[in-house]
Amino acid sequence: MRLAVFASGSGSNFEAITKAAKSGMINGSVEVLICDKQNAYALKRAEKLGVPAYVFQAKEFESKAAFESAILKKLEENQIELIILAGYMRLVGGTLLSAFEGRILNIHPSLLPAFPGLDAVGQAMDAGVKVTGVTVHYVDAGMDTGPIIAQEPLKIYSGDKKEVVQKKIQQVEHQLYPEVIQYVIEELSGRV
Ligand code: GRF
Repeated sequence: MRLAVFASGSGSNFEAITKAAKSGMINGSVEVLICDKQNAYALKRAEKLGVPAYVFQAKEFESKAAFESAILKKLEENQIELIILAGYMRLVGGTLLSAFEGRILNIHPSLLPAFPGLDAVGQAMDAGVKVTGVTVHYVDAGMDTGPIIAQEPLKIYSGDKKEVVQKKIQQVEHQLYPEVIQYVIEELSGRV
């Protein structure tokens, strides 16, 4: 299956997914990286991994629909079948949602519906919860609200620094996301 990853920042999940696809763990290939930030580190990773990357900056378009139509054109040119959001810091709008209905995934660093939105790890630690985790879900028009596909819990021990929890969360993400992507690919291919 032909995949597009969308990222705005570091792109560590993008790298993990691309490597999983290259190793055959995911029955698909990351054909393009779509990035909305010119200076995102994800772009450097794309270069190293040999994945074509395209930057679309929302401010250069007159509307969200125009912005997403430009992205959609690139996705169609590359015959993309599944969109993987990985640290894409933008709500997906109607143009992409209707073109890719049921074919957009996101990963979020909490056990949704707890702690949606920005800095989910910080939110969890401020709330004093002892278990947080990672969620992979289908994307709808809301913020971190689509149907949940999989979750993995992670314990927070007293005295854990935020950086430590953040690092453990990322390790969980890099393991979980490729597994769930492979599951969804099998499901979409009608083999489950
Ligand atoms: C991840 O924690 C992901 O759950 C959230 O944004 C972060 C992206 O990290 N949506 P990276 O850019 O993949 O390193």
